[in-house]
Amino acid sequence: MRGLLVCLAGLLVCLKTADSHSLPQKDDDTDTSGNNSSLDPDISSGNLDFNITTFIVRYVYRNDKKESMGIYAHKNGKIKKVLEDGMAVSDWFPKSLTYLGNKDGIYAYDSDTEKLEKYGNLSDSIIGIAKENRTDDLYILTEDHVVYKVIEQGTKKIKVNEAEHAEQIALDWDDNLYYIGANNQPYVVASDGAKKIGGLPTKPTSAFISRPPITIEHGAWFMSEKQPYIIYSNATSEPYVFNDQEKLEYEKRNRAVEAIFLQVRDQAGE
Ligand SMILES: *[C@@H]1O[C@H](CO)[C@@H](O)[C@H](O)[C@H]1NC(C)=O
Ligand SMILES: *[C@@H]1O[C@H](CO)[C@@H](O)[C@H](O)[C@H]1NC(C)=O
Ligand SMILES: *[C@@H]1O[C@H](CO)[C@@H](O)[C@H](O)[C@H]1NC(C)=O
Ligand SMILES: *[C@@H]1O[C@H](CO)[C@@H](O)[C@H](O)[C@H]1NC(C)=O
Ligand SMILES: *[C@@H]1O[C@H](CO)[C@@H](O)[C@H](O)[C@H]1NC(C)=O
Ligand SMILES: *[C@@H]1O[C@H](CO)[C@@H](O)[C@H](O)[C@H]1NC(C)=O
Repeated sequence: MRGLLVCLAGLLVCLKTADSHSLPQKDDDTDTSGNNSSLDPDISSGNLDFNITTFIVRYVYRNDKKESMGIYAHKNGKIKKVLEDGMAVSDWFPKSLTYLGNKDGIYAYDSDTEKLEKYGNLSDSIIGIAKENRTDDLYILTEDHVVYKVIEQGTKKIKVNEAEHAEQIALDWDDNLYYIGANNQPYVVASDGAKKIGGLPTKPTSAFISRPPITIEHGAWFMSEKQPYIIYSNATSEPYVFNDQEKLEYEKRNRAVEAIFLQVRDQAGE
């Protein structure tokens, strides 16, 4: 892998219970240059306690295109590669099942049994995945930047026409769909079309969305150049200010995640 930029993205923490304490995320996709491996974990809600599974998506840029170097699962200090060509992990969810997006469709990983299974029969190359809170339906973002809703246990997909050229997707707890478009701006998909979220910087160099921490009831989490925001389904937004406790936990978790990342890299032999 010498000479290639090694990045970490889409790192997610799976919580088994909804009452576990949750934390906000770190920014994703910060561009790094040169020979250094990038350590840009984006962290979803959860802590890194014993028995909790943390997923790491590794990818490299080849000709400006992201290529997977695998999805790894970290649990109880051990790291295991679970998918060779995966690029997407569903936001954490208070269940042991996590959905993973691979080059050839959707997989479900059970953190309790540590078993991976193909989910449904779709074969799209997937770069983003999110599961609804209230149903078993999923949303996927395919390599060609199209968003689909996946229903009937992964056997049927419906194109979400409102989402145009999506780069990332996320759901909030109320199952509203958000996406980041080609311009690094977030949109919410409403019944009458996609709406651009207001009140945000106009030309951010980085953007990241995810389901918010469980303490945030409405809206999704959006990071624009290290500044977190909550974006709402009514297309408004507000900056999110960490309190001292959250800040400490956030930093602590970033360190824990970086340690896991280094462990993965060591194990991968780079
Ligand atoms: C690489 O890392 C070194 C040491 O941390 C740092 O001094 C240097 O600026 C980095 N180079 C690039 C291109 O990021
Ligand atoms: C980057 O390259 C320089 C010069 O080749 C080397 O000294 C340095 O250790 C490298 N940094 C990393 C993080 O690999
Ligand atoms: C870890 O998770 C497994 C499977 O859910 C459970 O049986 C076990 O009791 C848990 N151990 C701890 C220390 O929480
Ligand atoms: C997946 O399975 C469903 C139900 O069995 C079937 O209707 C559908 O055609 C299959 N789709 C593909 C892509 O094989
Ligand atoms: C998820 O959906 C359930 C069932 O409708 C609801 O009670 C719960 O509040 C939702 N979770 C969150 C975190 O909003
Ligand atoms: C948008 O929704 C949020 C969250 O529900 C709410 O706090 C805010 O007042 C709403 N703003 C407008 C302009 O309706």
